[in-house]
Amino acid sequence: MAKVSSRLLSHICIAAAVMMLVLIAAAAPSSPASAQNVPQAATSEQQLLNQLKLGGAISGQVSIPDKKSANLIHPAGRDWRTFRTVWLKWIGGVAVVGMVVLLIGFYMWRGTMKIAGGRSGRTIVRFSGFERFVHWLTATTFVVLGITGLNITFGRALILPWLGPQAFSEWSEWSKYAHNYISFAFTLGVLLMFLMWVGQNFPTKADITWFKMGGGMFSKGHTEPAPAWKFNGGQKLLYWFIVVAGAAMIVTGFILLFPFYAGLTIDSMELSQVFHGTVGVLFVALIIAHIYLGTIGMEGAFEAMSDGTVDVNWAKEHHPLWYDEMKSGAVDANAVVTPAE
Ligand code: HEM
Repeated sequence: MAKVSSRLLSHICIAAAVMMLVLIAAAAPSSPASAQNVPQAATSEQQLLNQLKLGGAISGQVSIPDKKSANLIHPAGRDWRTFRTVWLKWIGGVAVVGMVVLLIGFYMWRGTMKIAGGRSGRTIVRFSGFERFVHWLTATTFVVLGITGLNITFGRALILPWLGPQAFSEWSEWSKYAHNYISFAFTLGVLLMFLMWVGQNFPTKADITWFKMGGGMFSKGHTEPAPAWKFNGGQKLLYWFIVVAGAAMIVTGFILLFPFYAGLTIDSMELSQVFHGTVGVLFVALIIAHIYLGTIGMEGAFEAMSDGTVDVNWAKEHHPLWYDEMKSGAVDANAVVTPAE
C-alpha cells in the first residue's frame, strides 16, 4: 500500500514539474527584450510591475498615515544606488584628480604668471569691502560644503580605513550637520554674488578676443595684454557657472534636505541626488582651478580679495580696459590710485 502511494506521489511530482516547465515556456517573453542583453530576472520584474500597474514599486499595506512606508521594493533605486556607489565616484575622481593633475602640469610648465612690467609701487582699488565680504562668505561656505560633500561620496572608501569606524562615524555625523546648515549661508552668498556682479558679467566683444588669445595664459614671453573689462571672458564663464550651477545645487540640495514636500517622491529625490552629486563634483573641480589662479598661479591676484587693491601694472596687464575706465574715473568712485605702502 505504502509502495503504491509513494509511486503515485512521485508521478504527481513529475506531472507537476512538467506542467511548470510548460507554463514557464509559455510565459517566456517573445518580445525583442528577450533578444537584448538584459538579465532575465530584471526583465521579468519590470514586466511584473508594468502588468500589475504598481507604479514603479512593490508595496504592502500599513495602517500609519505615512503610506510611503508600505513600499517594499523600489527597483529604480538599484540604478540610483549603482550611480551613487560606482558612477559618481568615477565622475568625481576623474574631475577632481584630473583637474589637480592638469594644474600641476600647467604650473610646472608655466610657473607663477608674473607681473611682466614688475610692481609699479602704486595700487588701485579693485573690490570694495562688501564685494570681498560676499566673496569670502561664498568661498568659505563652499569649501566646507565641498569637503563635507566629498566625504559623503568618498569618505567610506578613503577616510574610513585610516580613521576607523568610531572616529569616522563621528566626523561624518558632524560633517553632515555642517553640510546641511552651512547650505543656507552659501545660498545667501550665491544670491548676493549674482546681484552684485551681474552688471559686469554680460558678454562683450572684448571677451571673444580674450578667448582667442587664451587670456594670455598660454604664452610665456612678453605679449600684448588680452583685453578685459573688470572681469575677463574666463571669469565671466566662471561667474555664470557659479550662478547656474549654484542655483541647481541649491534647489536639488533643498529637495534632499526637505524630502517629500509639495508632492515630491522618492524618484525626485533620487534624480536630485544624481544632479546634486554630479554638478557638485564638477563645481569642486572648477573652483580648484579658480583657487589656483587666485593664489600661486598669478602674482598679485590674491591682494584683490585680501585688502581689495591690486598693483597698477597688474591691472594694466590683466584688465586693461577696466584700468583705463577706472583711471578716467568714468564709472566708480572707488577708482582711486594710491601709492603702495
Ligand atoms: C577659497 C579659496 C578662494 C580663493 C583663494 C579665491 C580667490 C579669488 C581672487 C584672488 C579673486 C580676484 C580675481 C581678480 O581680481 O580678478 C577672486 C574672484 C572671484 N571669486 Fe574667488 N577665491 C576662492 C574661492 C571662491 C569660491 C568658492 C567661489 C564661488 C563659489 C569664488 C568665486 C569668485 C568669483 C565669482 C570671482 C570674480 C570673478 C573671478 O575672479 O573669477 N571664489 N577669487
